[in-house]
Amino acid sequence: MGKVKSGMTKNDIFEKQSWKPGNVLSPVPVVLVSCGGVSDWKPNIITIAWTGSVCSDPPMLSISVRPERYSYDIIKNSEEFVVNVPSRSQVRAVDWCGMVSGRNVDKFEGAGLTPSESLKVQCPVIRECPINIECRVRDSMHLGTHTMFVAEVVAVQIISSLIDAKGRFRLEKAGLLAYGLGQYFSLGAVVGRFGCSVQKRKRKPRR
Ligand SMILES: Cc1cc2nc3c(=O)[nH]c(=O)nc-3n(C[C@H](O)[C@H](O)[C@H](O)COP(=O)(O)O)c2cc1C
Repeated sequence: MGKVKSGMTKNDIFEKQSWKPGNVLSPVPVVLVSCGGVSDWKPNIITIAWTGSVCSDPPMLSISVRPERYSYDIIKNSEEFVVNVPSRSQVRAVDWCGMVSGRNVDKFEGAGLTPSESLKVQCPVIRECPINIECRVRDSMHLGTHTMFVAEVVAVQIISSLIDAKGRFRLEKAGLLAYGLGQYFSLGAVVGRFGCSVQKRKRKPRR
């Protein structure tokens, strides 16, 4: 660690320290990926933090999985999985599914979660998670410790209580969870909307 000297004054509130390169990008979503339930693979759940959207059309996302995970062979062979977005009330299940392996335990039973039917893929969604994103693997890339699966989103299920009377998806009510540097965070208030920086403010009518 060393101080970054350029352009600094003694009491600089933006003073920085140089850290070794690592995965400090935070926060990231933390999700429960369900897989299996096809061929001889029993249904399983793996906690994944290395995930993200990678393309809008077709809608695609990626998950990065270490080859030694039990879920790796399932996803590699079945070429499908479901990204289940948990809420903060499920933080213990999220952590636990990342601590034990499906080689030794039934994680659905152990975490008190219910495998439920998917719309387009064969592996189950997790019934209790408010958002289920069904995916089919389109590509994989071995990066180092992890293999990244790039997958197309083929169906989405959203719990009805998050959809308002006008058909809008009220994401802010989902009690979302995030992860960063070994800690789970609960996401708070909405502080802006897409395009708010370029929107003209509505003037208050003069009295
Ligand atoms: C918060 C958290 C995030 C994790 N993220 C990943 C990840 O992105 N990729 C990965 O391969 N393992 C990740 N893990 C570890 C796996 O979830 C863990 O090794 C799990 O027990 C593997 O289950 P399986 O053997 O049933 O597949 C994470 C664990 C936790 C607790």
